[in-house]
Amino acid sequence: MSSHNSGRAVFNTKFGAIATTVGSAVGLGNIWRFPYEAGIHGGGAFMICYLCFVFLIGVPLLCAEFCMGRGTRSNIFGAYRSLGGKRISHIAGPLGILASLLILSFYSVVAGWTVEYCLSSLTGALDFSNREAGHGQFVNLTTGWRPLIWTVVFLLTNFLILVSGVTKGIERASNVLMPLLFLLLVAFCVNSFFLPGFEEGIRFLFTPDFSKITSGVLLGAMGQAFFSLSLGLGCMMTYASYFSEKNRLGKTAATTAILDSAVAILAGVIIFPAVFSFNISPEAGPTLVFEVLPYIFNRLPGGMVWSTLFFLLLFLASLTSTVSMSEISITYFCEEKRMSRKRATILSTAIALAGGLLCALSFGAMSDVTIFGMTFFNLFDYLSSNICLPAGGFICSLFAGWWVSRKFISDQLTDHGRYGFGMTGAFIFCLRWLCPAAIFLIFLNSIGLL
Ligand code: PHE
Repeated sequence: MSSHNSGRAVFNTKFGAIATTVGSAVGLGNIWRFPYEAGIHGGGAFMICYLCFVFLIGVPLLCAEFCMGRGTRSNIFGAYRSLGGKRISHIAGPLGILASLLILSFYSVVAGWTVEYCLSSLTGALDFSNREAGHGQFVNLTTGWRPLIWTVVFLLTNFLILVSGVTKGIERASNVLMPLLFLLLVAFCVNSFFLPGFEEGIRFLFTPDFSKITSGVLLGAMGQAFFSLSLGLGCMMTYASYFSEKNRLGKTAATTAILDSAVAILAGVIIFPAVFSFNISPEAGPTLVFEVLPYIFNRLPGGMVWSTLFFLLLFLASLTSTVSMSEISITYFCEEKRMSRKRATILSTAIALAGGLLCALSFGAMSDVTIFGMTFFNLFDYLSSNICLPAGGFICSLFAGWWVSRKFISDQLTDHGRYGFGMTGAFIFCLRWLCPAAIFLIFLNSIGLL
């Protein structure tokens, strides 16, 4: 990044901007959350809804967040305010900050598991020789005090990256390491082909059974699309405020959506054949990937090396996502509350730490403490992904579609007419009608009013 004349940083290169945006989008959402959500919601039916949401709602909303962020060079509050939506900024802003802190809390717990798995693979302590041993191992690793420690370690690492300004180092490292993660996923996909449950797994994931599309599936798929694209909480808006004028916003949005879905699909192709080969229930929930992956590694020559490398890369992918979600509350505390960056980072980390510990305990000592029938972990996940993010997206699409001038949007998409963007009309139509209507109807449907 270099300094912009308004005093704000700007990404030096187009590639840097795209890589960082993809870095935010690709993370545990694709590799951990997508397979478990698809497993709970019937596989193919979920997949088709998810892809529709990514491309019909996700891409237009990504463009809208990009336009608002780069056009105003501001955080979520400032972006709404500068575009004449002072009142709306008081709704969209807190909603985004709440969502980012909720996500950071449970995300850190899962990222903590990746650290545990990486170290256990490195020392050869991971025993997944049979199903019972594997399950026992998972329970061992995720209950008790260890997950608390790893959650703290993860949040501290995130904190250090944010305060010491080594974000740039992380960006550079992830430019090399994320393609490596992608290659590793492709290699594991090839391996899936040789598993006995390959056909069954692929059928489960890709054959849609339309009778399985219920309100729960629609809400889950929509939440997953928002979560995976880091949408609806101002994260992409904040990142776009660092984009240079050279970045083509439409192209960046499409690239992000394509790469992000590709990684999720790869993860599905790796997990489901293994699920059926090793007789694990696809409906296992948040623990699914952590119970299944080690089976795959266990059967590969040099399995522990693959396993160590994979969990290390997953840990880094999580960091590039948590750095981006932390940025929302930090820029808010800095730019709106005039706090120093260090204090803002301490405050955000402290809040996430409190939430993270509650989520970590949800698998152990507090597993029977439930609210609306959900543990803290599940509640934070549900509230943020299925409620806050779509609600944030709803506000953003109406605001960008109806309130912000068409010229502003078109200037951002075409860099003031320097290059063509033939889809401005279709894009505004999506923002005005399609996105808000779809989100609204799915909400009504999920609370039983439709
Ligand atoms: N998109 C990230 C992932 O898939 C998670 C995330 C959500 C990041 C919201 C930033 C904001 O892992």
